[in-house]
Amino acid sequence: MKRAYIETYGCQMNISDSELMHGILAEQGYTPADKPEDADVILVNTCAIRDHAEQRVIGRVGQLQQIRRDNPDVVIGVTGCMAQRMGESLLGKAGGVDMVMGPDAYRQLPDKLAEVVTRRGPAAVKLAPATQAATIAARGLTVLGFDPHENYEGVTAKRISSVSAWVPIQRGCNYRCTYCIVPYVRGDEKNRDSQAILDEVRALAADGVPEVTLLGQTVNSYEHGGWNVPRLLREVARVPGIRRVRFTSPHPNDFTRELVEVMAAEPTVCKQLHLPVQAGHDRTLKRMLRRYTVAEYMEKIEWVREAMPGIALSTDIIVGFPGETDEEYQATLDLVRAVRFDDAFLYKYSERDGTPATRLPRDQFVPDEVGQARLAGLIAVHRRIQAEMYQAEVGRTVEVLVEKEGRRGGVQGRTESNKVVTFEAPAELIGYFVDVTLVSTTGATFTGELIPALAAA
Ligand code: SAH
Ligand code: SF4
Ligand code: F3S
Repeated sequence: MKRAYIETYGCQMNISDSELMHGILAEQGYTPADKPEDADVILVNTCAIRDHAEQRVIGRVGQLQQIRRDNPDVVIGVTGCMAQRMGESLLGKAGGVDMVMGPDAYRQLPDKLAEVVTRRGPAAVKLAPATQAATIAARGLTVLGFDPHENYEGVTAKRISSVSAWVPIQRGCNYRCTYCIVPYVRGDEKNRDSQAILDEVRALAADGVPEVTLLGQTVNSYEHGGWNVPRLLREVARVPGIRRVRFTSPHPNDFTRELVEVMAAEPTVCKQLHLPVQAGHDRTLKRMLRRYTVAEYMEKIEWVREAMPGIALSTDIIVGFPGETDEEYQATLDLVRAVRFDDAFLYKYSERDGTPATRLPRDQFVPDEVGQARLAGLIAVHRRIQAEMYQAEVGRTVEVLVEKEGRRGGVQGRTESNKVVTFEAPAELIGYFVDVTLVSTTGATFTGELIPALAAA
């Protein structure tokens, strides 16, 4: 029996892909290992979205080399978006990588892992670091082709959580936001068959999973055999046993009134929306090729708040995009003050080789210190708003789905609005909906107090 350890970086799509990989490996008799030291195969499933994400992976793969000392037969592979981006050049990095595999090739995992072992012959042991890397690289394997039909249909994912499940409905991306590497490492958009998605959700419900999150890079551009996202969302929301449905990330451009209507009408669709805006000035949005204006974005926020008062909103924003003037940056701060997001993921622009933004005039690139200062300023503005909004919720009693044990004892769960709450309760409550009074907040999470359920009659 072989054991596989997969360490995941990046977005929910990558977490979901790791679950698919565990599923594919399980069919060939692999079981998941709890830690890398116990594994025959270590896979690092990577992200390429920012340089920082890639540097972390290089550091981590370097660290994992120590495991070869005790287990020279271990196979170390790098999968995912950074694997796709760097390809063969990764093989000789960070002490040596045995296999590099892109996001469309996971069905080949068991075969390619076997091939790695045959090809490399006796493991590279007790070599000087540089020789080790070169030796491993020379025998290493790369599997990088895109497959426009690969949706991993028929693979049963081995999921980490039995409470909340990621359900990919789309892979790749047809947008070409000028800063973004995703279309180049994941290929064009491809959508799964709606019946296969519904079957998967029904199977999850039958297994007692109460919450699903539909996933796609531009999840609301989903379109397959006459099905669009409002129709699919409505059907998923009505699967018996499913009590919470979320979807991420929608693109503002494909965000329609029809979708708002379904969200508002279906009680199991969580009143929570992550709608990435990226910037608060039309000139920046245009250079980013986001294909909407600030006014259009704000109009959609209005639709949503009108139909679902109190809905929780979150977003992604990039500061320091090439050509961003101080006026444009101030406009982003104004947008954040106007919308008042419950949560926001805030980034400094990171240049990605091969993306269109790298060809903007060099003299327009924002100096790093300026980018850093803008990011700090934006974080400060957002945090103050977020703290106010969270503080306003203290004292309320809300329904929480208990997800797992808390890091410092007790349990942790989420509210319908996707807010994290930790509270004292037995682990037996994992998977249950309970009422919790929010007693305090750090400004980003809550501490709560369980309201004991009345004894069943
Ligand atoms: N498909 C999603 C985004 C996936 S990437 C969407 O379109 O909403 C997650 C976030 O990373 C993006 O929303 C963006 O804010 C950020 N991001 C993407 N490329 C980046 C880059 N080159 N530098 C900094 N942040 C970036
Ligand atoms: Fe990247 Fe834009 Fe596609 Fe999102 S929509 S993955 S930001 S190209
Ligand atoms: Fe990163 Fe790939 Fe997701 S680049 S953000 S892991 S799609």
